[in-house]
Amino acid sequence: MKVLFVGDIVGRNARNFVQKQIVDLKLKLQLDAIIINVENAAGGFGVTPAICDDFFNAGADILTTGNHVWDKREIISYISKNERLLRPMNMIDGTPGIGITSIKINTGTIGVANIMTNLFMSRTDPVFNKVPEIINSFKLTENVDFALVDVHGEASSEKMAIGYALDGNVSAVVGTHTHVPTADYQILEKGTAYITDVGMSGDYNSIIGMNKQDALNRFMFPNNKKSKLEVSLGEPTMCGVIIDTLSNGLSKSIKPLRLGGRLEQTIL
Ligand SMILES: [Fe+2]
Ligand SMILES: [Fe+2]
Repeated sequence: MKVLFVGDIVGRNARNFVQKQIVDLKLKLQLDAIIINVENAAGGFGVTPAICDDFFNAGADILTTGNHVWDKREIISYISKNERLLRPMNMIDGTPGIGITSIKINTGTIGVANIMTNLFMSRTDPVFNKVPEIINSFKLTENVDFALVDVHGEASSEKMAIGYALDGNVSAVVGTHTHVPTADYQILEKGTAYITDVGMSGDYNSIIGMNKQDALNRFMFPNNKKSKLEVSLGEPTMCGVIIDTLSNGLSKSIKPLRLGGRLEQTIL
């Protein structure tokens, strides 16, 4: 299978750009599935039902999120009904929505899990406790043809450890949340595709997608009343990875795809 995963969509420009791109890419690259992290799609904070519907209509199969999932409260009732929008599975019991799912697509069945790490992140249940549950849920070539884990987190060490813990059991472990793409995309020893962070889809003339001066002021004048962070609205770069799998469901290759804006670089 050939699957595109797109990193955190930050704001309106990135949203519109990515929606347009995926329509073309699906045909051009003959993608079997598209998975997108949308935790910052609505003005940088959260996501709304209408935005999710737009992504699904443009061709996304499953949407993932992270710590910002609840920033727009109207998503609560939507996520309870829509099993193609995930929130991290290690959020405390009773949290609306689900964090792991599998769906049928034209060419098979894909499984996706969304987890959030613990270091420097908002409080969740211990992330490593979810590793056995993921391994038990996804059996490559038995109940899923492709399985991806979106590991949403700050610390690269923790994300690498998750990659290693899942190596050989899922097709891909892809990192999100830092909003900066890393260059360590690789196939791990036992066949799982891995990248520490896919990077955001947003304006890279910014501080992780937000207006530079507002973000800088927060660091320089921490005692001042915090000004509202606004999405930086320059030309966005869409950051993703394309994962190609073998017949056993493990991966043959993982390649970065960066379209538009300041980080444009296509390696195909
Ligand atoms: Fe994010
Ligand atoms: Fe995040």
